[in-house]
Amino acid sequence: MISHPKVCCYLLDVTYYLAIWLTGWGYFVPPSPLLPTRSNDPFSPLSKKFGSVFSVHFGMKKVVVLCGYRTVKEALLTLDEAFGEREAPTILQEQTKGHGVLWSGGDSWKEMRRFALTNLRDFGMGKKASEEKIIEECQHLSVVLQQFKGEAFDMSNAITFAVSNIICSIVYGSRFNYNDPEFRGQIGRADALNHIQLSVSTQLYNLYPSLFKWLLNRRRILNISAENKKQTWSFIHHLKESLNPETCRGFVDTFLVRQKHLEDSGNTDTHFHDDNLVHMVLDLFIAGTETTGTTLRWSLLLMARYPLIQDRVQGELRSVLGGRQVQMEDRKNLPYTNAVIHEVLRFSSIIPMALPHKTSRDVTFRGHLIKKGTTVYPLLVSVLHDESEWEKPRSFHPDHFLDTDGKFTKRDAFMPFSAGRRICLGETLARMELFLFFSSLLQRFRFTPPPGVPEEELDLTPNVCFTLLPPTHKLCAVAL
Ligand code: HEM
Repeated sequence: MISHPKVCCYLLDVTYYLAIWLTGWGYFVPPSPLLPTRSNDPFSPLSKKFGSVFSVHFGMKKVVVLCGYRTVKEALLTLDEAFGEREAPTILQEQTKGHGVLWSGGDSWKEMRRFALTNLRDFGMGKKASEEKIIEECQHLSVVLQQFKGEAFDMSNAITFAVSNIICSIVYGSRFNYNDPEFRGQIGRADALNHIQLSVSTQLYNLYPSLFKWLLNRRRILNISAENKKQTWSFIHHLKESLNPETCRGFVDTFLVRQKHLEDSGNTDTHFHDDNLVHMVLDLFIAGTETTGTTLRWSLLLMARYPLIQDRVQGELRSVLGGRQVQMEDRKNLPYTNAVIHEVLRFSSIIPMALPHKTSRDVTFRGHLIKKGTTVYPLLVSVLHDESEWEKPRSFHPDHFLDTDGKFTKRDAFMPFSAGRRICLGETLARMELFLFFSSLLQRFRFTPPPGVPEEELDLTPNVCFTLLPPTHKLCAVAL
């Protein structure tokens, strides 16, 4: 599963360094937009030479790269309307046609984002109900972990099922059994699509669509994507049949109620149409599952790699909570646990280049004229590992988030969810999931490497996928 993107990225790395070497400057053919993730941050050396704002060529296209905390902050927060449009790669433009929220822009994006934020707040964020859903899911996940009786196994699937179920609860109002074939089918298709999006042929197609049309198996992509939409539609249809506007079960119900209300009042010029509904649902799954799942997997791997840090987290959980189930309101009394979760997000930097942005107008930024419609990559990894902001940028060091009295302290350069207009829409939900899943699991299990493997031998070199994955590994979850 991992080797294919790995090979692809080695090839791209070679192309990249060769081109840099040949030209002495970043004029090169065709690196993946995910390229910097291989060596975690190969653009930083370029920023040392060319400054914190520079342009490189992705194929024929000139894109602007922003490096370092101050530069990224200024672009995304101070000039957020100028840098806040989205650039969708060709293959995703074809699949989404500007619907949904991840790859869209303009008025449709604005309305869908506003609607999603309000409704995720009601069903998935900040509310006791969603907390209970997450705690319930932790229990299902714990049962799976327990079944392995402390033997080493790869926890990726179990974690993916658990975090996908949180999105199901929020979107559809119900969770699935981990063995449900429809549920597994949807997860499998999302995984397959991810891998195709990262293939060399897709990258080449994104850069030169007319030239590489023949190379890309577009029919396969479109078939998987159509199958995904079909299944999502069948869930939505089912909910439509049993819709009761008085008791909305989740995001889909609320959307349908708004849609009907607009139709009944004769409003035909609306963004609340079926295409936006289906793509919103798909976007929440795409953006809300691999991200949280990957971060949770990093957190468990890092606990196994650094047992003294794990000891301290478990000691804090024990002394503050005794044996009772952790709740969100406990977070303020668990500064070390909170610091560890923040450090996992900072250290792993799972979306190193954010998603591609686009300028909405001509903008003069730090002495450079950037034309309207230019693709811009705010390099989040260069913020999260900025040497002038973090004491030990390349190490796993939870003290980054603690003051001298051991109290939790926020850091301005903590931007794993990006910033400004396009900041992650699911940040609050993701933080809640990470806190509850991580703390609940550490209350119940001790995470260790497989027998005979010393902690120092656990590899922390990331693998490139849609996010920066922890390397494939097996861990033991020993019940406490
Ligand atoms: C966008 C990070 C979880 C929904 C993003 C972006 C980042 C990010 C870096 C791109 C921002 C930009 O382009 O500047 C993360 C991380 C997560 C996480 C690190 C978990 C650890 C979630 C969850 C959801 C979600 C749980 C949904 C419930 C979205 C959406 C967007 C987005 C819809 C696109 C926003 C837009 O373009 O307006 N996320 N995310 N994310 N995220 Fe997340």
